[in-house]
Amino acid sequence: MPDSFRYHIRPAKSSDIQQVTALAIEGLDSDDLFNYNFPHRKEFPDDCHLAWYRIFESWLYIPRTLSLIPGRLDLRVRSCSWLIAKLYPKSINRHSSPSHIANFRASLDVIEEKYWQTQYRESLHLRALATKPEFRQKGIATALIEWGLQRSRTTGLVAGVESSEMAKGLYSKLGFQTIGYEELRDEMDAVQVKTWVMVWGADVDREGGS
Ligand SMILES: CC(C)(COP(=O)(O)OP(=O)(O)OC[C@H]1O[C@@H](n2cnc3c(N)ncnc32)[C@H](O)[C@@H]1OP(=O)(O)O)[C@@H](O)C(=O)NCCC(=O)NCCS
Repeated sequence: MPDSFRYHIRPAKSSDIQQVTALAIEGLDSDDLFNYNFPHRKEFPDDCHLAWYRIFESWLYIPRTLSLIPGRLDLRVRSCSWLIAKLYPKSINRHSSPSHIANFRASLDVIEEKYWQTQYRESLHLRALATKPEFRQKGIATALIEWGLQRSRTTGLVAGVESSEMAKGLYSKLGFQTIGYEELRDEMDAVQVKTWVMVWGADVDREGGS
């Protein structure tokens, strides 16, 4: 039995959200996309924490979306997700880069239209996986990913992810295949981040190389 099956994985509850937020911010510190979108988070840690707390909290109310611990993972059946509008006071997002966030959102729209709304419309989707640096290389992310792959096996649905450069090798090792990529650029038009679109359990038309 793989090491990864030693870890107990359970859905996060509302009482976990503070801890999940702290863990995600720490874990995602080594993610180039996180650095690109939130370059000022060390100067404005409270803004960053509050913004992410709200995101994780809102995910508790999205049907068919589960945040799992340890680590964090959002797995959704794309065709069946709802967004619950909540009344929040306006956020102060001094930790983020508005232009980079706009680029990121535009890239997600492209990926959504090109892949997730076309041949992979019916898919399970993994979003924003992170583990704490001191607990890495122990199979925790593998266990979180396997949790979803097991549901892909039983439902026959493809699993999809937009991977960071850092996680790409791990997804490949677990059987994901690259079907495309998106590049995020800075104000000088230099590529800062590459996001890899990967799927598991499908016959793929490769476009983005490996
Ligand atoms: C990418 C990330 C989630 C991986 O988390 P992790 O818990 O270290 O992942 P695992 O331990 O399951 O696997 C990592 C490696 O350890 C290996 N490993 C797994 N179990 C192991 C064990 N018991 N002993 C030693 N190595 C092990 C895996 O085979 C894998 O090998 P690789 O480096 O060749 O890919 C983590 O590095 C992270 O949070 N990065 C920053 C955020 C990020 O990039 N997230 C991805 C967004 S899509």
